Amino acid sequence: MTTLMINGEKRKVNASPDTPLLYVLRGELNVMTPKFGCGLAQCGACSVLMDGEEIRSCIYPFASLVGKEITTVEGLPARWQKQKNLPDDSERLHPVQQAWVDEQVPQCGICQFGMMIKATELLESNPRPSDDDINTAMTSSGPSPHLCRCASYAAIKDGIHRAADIIATESKTSNLKQAVSHE
Ligand code: FES
Ligand code: FES
Repeated sequence: MTTLMINGEKRKVNASPDTPLLYVLRGELNVMTPKFGCGLAQCGACSVLMDGEEIRSCIYPFASLVGKEITTVEGLPARWQKQKNLPDDSERLHPVQQAWVDEQVPQCGICQFGMMIKATELLESNPRPSDDDINTAMTSSGPSPHLCRCASYAAIKDGIHRAADIIATESKTSNLKQAVSHE
């Protein structure tokens, strides 16, 4: 048996060590937001964060990820709350998730969890990306572009800009609260 750290929790895995992480997440651990699209690292539907970096879970044997922190969309709210030192709140969405709701980004939805993971990776390193930064992140920085067969690319861009606004507002509020609590 192998132990993985998924969304802040230790999870035991019984699968054969060469099983791709995607199959372990969906088939054994009931973590369902990473989707099977191509199975060849060519679409981004299965993306997760590994220590903050987007990877395509369809091609990574899970045993190669022991000791890494894996985050899926299920784990984004807790990730944000931890980063901002916010109290645990199961109702509070990560800014990227909230932006996706506000902007009504998804169409069929199959690609969108991977898009949100990529957006999170981008915003953690660049909290105010330009359109060019977004285009580069979504098309040139991974093993292949993130693909949306519904062509929701304009809405995804709007979602990322909206998430940047939410991050800026929430960061200001949490900094203020921290400053007040230290007075
Ligand atoms: S299913 Fe992994 S990149 Fe397409
Ligand atoms: S929303 Fe349908 S594939 Fe992207």
